[in-house]
Amino acid sequence: MLAVEENVQLRSSQYALIIDLTDLALPGQPIVHIMCNTAFMHWKNMIAHHNPITPVIQNLGLMNQYLIHRSIDFGLLHEAKQLQHLDMHLSWLLHKASSFDFVTEIAGGKTLLVGEGNLSFALSLAEIPKIFPSQLVATTFEAKSNLSREAAANAKGLQSLGVTVLHGVNATKLAAALGSWKFDNIVFQFPHVGSREPVEGRNPNFILVRDFLKSAARQLQPSGKVLISAVDSPHYHGAFQFDEAAEAAGFKTPASYPFELSVFSGYEHTMTNEDESAIDHHRKFRTWVFRR
Ligand SMILES: C[S@@+](CC[C@H](N)C(=O)[O-])C[C@H]1O[C@@H](n2cnc3c(N)ncnc32)[C@H](O)[C@@H]1O
Repeated sequence: MLAVEENVQLRSSQYALIIDLTDLALPGQPIVHIMCNTAFMHWKNMIAHHNPITPVIQNLGLMNQYLIHRSIDFGLLHEAKQLQHLDMHLSWLLHKASSFDFVTEIAGGKTLLVGEGNLSFALSLAEIPKIFPSQLVATTFEAKSNLSREAAANAKGLQSLGVTVLHGVNATKLAAALGSWKFDNIVFQFPHVGSREPVEGRNPNFILVRDFLKSAARQLQPSGKVLISAVDSPHYHGAFQFDEAAEAAGFKTPASYPFELSVFSGYEHTMTNEDESAIDHHRKFRTWVFRR
């Protein structure tokens, strides 16, 4: 049980053990009533986020529920109690594996922010007490001379807090602005090219994300990660094709977690085009986390 708790990388042998145990069920035993109970349904309805480990934990939880009821059927009450303990461990593990604390991740190292628009996201991060502003580098695609009044004011605010601010930084050509500088986190909030014109015959936003990931890979510390937040909708998933972009840039399939806008006070999302806003008409957002 402890191995399950301590080692998120569950080994298939552990999973197989539980499946083997279910084979102990006697042939012909009615199992329908076993399946229809609230605990089982609780596990079944659990939302498995797009994270490679969560479906495994969820399956273990379901199997364990089955075992608990089999044990009770056979009068193995002590064993059923132990399995209920395992149920608590698995629930805790699922919770851990499905959550992602954006702020804690940023607080844990040096972070580069690209495509920052009006820089209000960078400013909201810099004002969070557990984040050291000197560990942040905030960049805009736009040149300094092209910044909006709001962006220019936020840039000043960031610099006064000790954040490094750079302008005219192309997220697909980071080395040109940052040389060999390495980061623990590289963040692109709501990437968007502001055009629908296909590039290489593909959605231009897929190309932006793919080329950004390739460039970011060269600026990461060995255990560093890239975070990309986007609207959680089939339309945006289809546009970005994050799994394919990750593979093309040498990252594992990304896990994704809900992005809670309300955590970042003062963050006023900017649009690439006046007529297109990713946030205004949506309520659900996610952060995709890319690791090598
Ligand atoms: C939808 S806006 C989001 C702005 C900001 N990240 C936010 O969340 O408010 C998309 C941003 O991507 C930037 N962008 C587009 N292409 C880029 C590129 N090649 N490199 C860096 N930024 C880019 C645009 O300048 C724009 O600010």
